[in-house]
Parts: sequence; structure tokens; C-alpha cells
Amino acid sequence: MKRSFVPLLGLVSISAFAVAVFAQEKKPATTESRPRYTEKKASRDGTGKVYMGREISGVVSVHAIKWLERPERTKEEAPQDVVENMGLKATDVVADIGAGSGYFSFLMAPKVPEGKVLAVDINAQMLEFIAAKGRKAGVTNVEGLLGTIEDTKLPEGEVDAVLMVDAYHEFSHPHEMMTSIVKGLRPGGRVILLEYRGEDPSVPIKPLHKMTQKQAIAEMEAVGLKHKETKDFLPRQHFMVFVKPGGE
Ligand SMILES: C[S@@+](CC[C@H](N)C(=O)[O-])C[C@H]1O[C@@H](n2cnc3c(N)ncnc32)[C@H](O)[C@@H]1O
Repeated sequence: MKRSFVPLLGLVSISAFAVAVFAQEKKPATTESRPRYTEKKASRDGTGKVYMGREISGVVSVHAIKWLERPERTKEEAPQDVVENMGLKATDVVADIGAGSGYFSFLMAPKVPEGKVLAVDINAQMLEFIAAKGRKAGVTNVEGLLGTIEDTKLPEGEVDAVLMVDAYHEFSHPHEMMTSIVKGLRPGGRVILLEYRGEDPSVPIKPLHKMTQKQAIAEMEAVGLKHKETKDFLPRQHFMVFVKPGGE
């Protein structure tokens, strides 16, 4: 049954800092004279900032927590299946980038009892929510990490796997964020990217909050990651796996 996706509309806000940042974004690509980012008239829900042909969406605010924690999510996104398919080892250090309320961080935590989950977000209120949730549940291996719009602050070369769910499309500096993620990964480390399927009109999500597989692969390859596989077992999202070269 086709449903309109009204709640997200109300949750998306483009913050003042983001607008300021887009105005100053004229950085040249390292090997070319073309700017990395360009600007267009912003779409509804968009920022007007374009990366590799894709308009970047607005960033959700802390008011999205209720939506992120909605009970229907278990049916709509099969989050437990996501975690089961990540191939996590007990000792892994896994980073949840754009962690929001920590929905996925706390699902992953029991899978890495001898490791930890680094829950990274740029919104300090999200991290406060995560800390409170951890205290309440008695979970000690989820650590909040306050990043910036360009830097995850991950420890260099120490991360085994990175998960990004419904977040990458709203990073205001996707290239810089991915460069920072690649730096944080150990050689052979993986990025697991989940985005609503942009090719599928039956997925009831606004276009800027979806991504096609082709677009996602191009953007990940732009920072040196290799596409390993896409597992299509989820109701609405692509489950895409990328690897940092150099592992055994
Ligand atoms: C739609 S929420 C998704 C939250 C979570 N991944 C989930 O699926 O429940 C996107 C999150 O990404 C965060 N975010 C946006 N840009 C970011 C950046 N550059 N670095 C880290 N987090 C970012 C937002 O603050 C927000 O909490």
C-alpha cells in the first residue's frame, strides 16, 4: 500500500550553519580545477548544494528522535536483520555515523561484547539522548563521539566497520566525511551504507532522502572504497558493503 511520508517533512530543518557553509563551499577538487560542490536553487527539503550530481538534503533536528524510535520501524526497516547481516565479530570496534538516537548503536552493542560501538553525531542533543539511553539500559560499550560536519573524529586506523543508516544523504560535506571515515577504518575495514532505494518509486520516502545504488557506489569510490556487494533483503533500503583496500 502506498503511503505518503508526511512526518519527515516536519522534522527536516536546514540549520543556519549549513546555509553559511554552502555559501562558502568553493573548494577545488584536489586533481581538478572544478569545484567539488556546486549550488542550485534549493528543492523543497534540499540544501541547494550539489555533490556529484546529487542535491544534499537538509539535516534532521533532535525532534526526529520520536520518528527514529518509532515502533513501526521494526517492520519498515527490519533493523535486527540489518545487524545480523553485518558480520560483526565480538571484538569489533564499529562506528555508527550519524547515529541520531542511537537506534542502531544499541542493536549492535550486544554483537560486540569485547569491542565497542562509537556513536558519532554532530548534534550534541542526540549524544545526550544516547548517553541517557545507555545509562538506563546498563549498556557500557556504546560511546558517544561529537563530530563536526567535516570530521568524524574517529581514532585513526582502529575501526573495523562503519554503519551509516539514513544519514549519509544529509551530510553537508560528504567527501570530507568519507575521507575522515576511510582514515578511521583499518585496512580491510568495511563501510555498510543503508539508504532508501532511489530507483524504487514504491518506497514512500521523499526523493532527496533516497539514493540510487549507482550514485552511492560512485560517491564511495570517489574516496577509494571498493564496492564489495549489495544485499537486497530489506523492505525499503539498499544494504551496500564497501571495503577499504589493503586488508588481507
Ligand atoms: C535521519 S538521522 C538517522 C539516525 C540513525 N542513523 C538512524 O537510522 O536511526 C541522521 C543523523 O545524522 C546526523 N548527521 C548529519 N550530518 C552529520 C555529519 N556530518 N556527521 C555526523 N552526523 C551527522 C544528524 O544529526 C542525525 O542525527
